[in-house]
Amino acid sequence: MDTEQVDFSDKTVGVIGAGVMGTALLKGMLAAELLPTKNLRAAVATNGSRDRIAEDLEIPVACGYPPEWIADTDVFLLCVKPHRVVEILDRLKSSGTLRPHALIISIAAGTKIAEIESSLPGFAVIRAMPNTPCLIGAGVTVISPGNHVKPEHMAIAEQVFASVGKVWTLGEHHLDAVTAVSGSGPAYIYLMMESLADGAVKVGLPRDIAFQLVSQTMLGAAMMLQGTGKHPATLKDEVTTPAGCTISALLTMEDGRIRSTLARAVEEATRTAAGLGRKGTH
Ligand SMILES: NC(=O)c1ccc[n+]([C@@H]2O[C@H](COP(=O)([O-])OP(=O)(O)OC[C@H]3O[C@@H](n4cnc5c(N)ncnc54)[C@H](OP(=O)(O)O)[C@@H]3O)[C@@H](O)[C@H]2O)c1
Repeated sequence: MDTEQVDFSDKTVGVIGAGVMGTALLKGMLAAELLPTKNLRAAVATNGSRDRIAEDLEIPVACGYPPEWIADTDVFLLCVKPHRVVEILDRLKSSGTLRPHALIISIAAGTKIAEIESSLPGFAVIRAMPNTPCLIGAGVTVISPGNHVKPEHMAIAEQVFASVGKVWTLGEHHLDAVTAVSGSGPAYIYLMMESLADGAVKVGLPRDIAFQLVSQTMLGAAMMLQGTGKHPATLKDEVTTPAGCTISALLTMEDGRIRSTLARAVEEATRTAAGLGRKGTH
């Protein structure tokens, strides 16, 4: 997870699909001063998004095809929905202006490196799976190299995603599981937080206080896991006094099969993630 620093401030980076994730990456790169504003550019589908992002970030934003900045771009970040990736790659290729040494980084869930490489033979392709906490610089991203990727390409990708959180490198065969665990993971945690807050409201706490208590408890527990290096079961046992209220709550959760429900949810999400890049899926 240690990021090798490489100066790519002379490169140009274009984000195709400056939506939720694409905009987070643009803002992260700008905040980390990885490269000057003049070396960043974006593309979106609608005029409204173009005007909003151009005004917000003060970078050139293309709308429609082909983005006029293709020929001047060294690194492409593909941040469109998975079902749009192949169409975009085809258009990049047919523009005839793509630099032969351009690096393609895709965050599209379920879209395999082989699909991208077959659209752009010989190009360096990196697949990445970030998550929405990237919006506040607390993201998790796993990156996987394609067949033509060199160490300097990985160093660029690591720095791009390190600007919005933590980065790990894994083989692509793990990426559907990563999608199911950390890509979708924030939604599972929100559901758990909402449920715990509902319980707090049921026993009389105001909802706003409940959310604060629950979210700080989640944060603290996550920090305990990371900071102590202990197994979660050990940390759980440390909270659980004999005949106390924690064990009452834990056994109630076990009656509801909380462990297998969560584990099976990840398994099911992994299966779904594997099909995301296919035609007709989002
Ligand atoms: N959201 C997550 O939690 C998450 C996590 C990990 C990975 N991902 C992946 O990230 C990708 C983007 O997700 P998102 O949530 O950021 O989606 P999003 O907010 O809907 O953004 C998609 C962007 O793509 C733009 N777009 C659509 N067609 C385009 C085209 N032909 N040319 C240029 N831009 C085009 C849209 O433009 P307009 O704004 O003009 O419509 C929009 O800005 C997906 O592939 C997803 O699998 C998402």
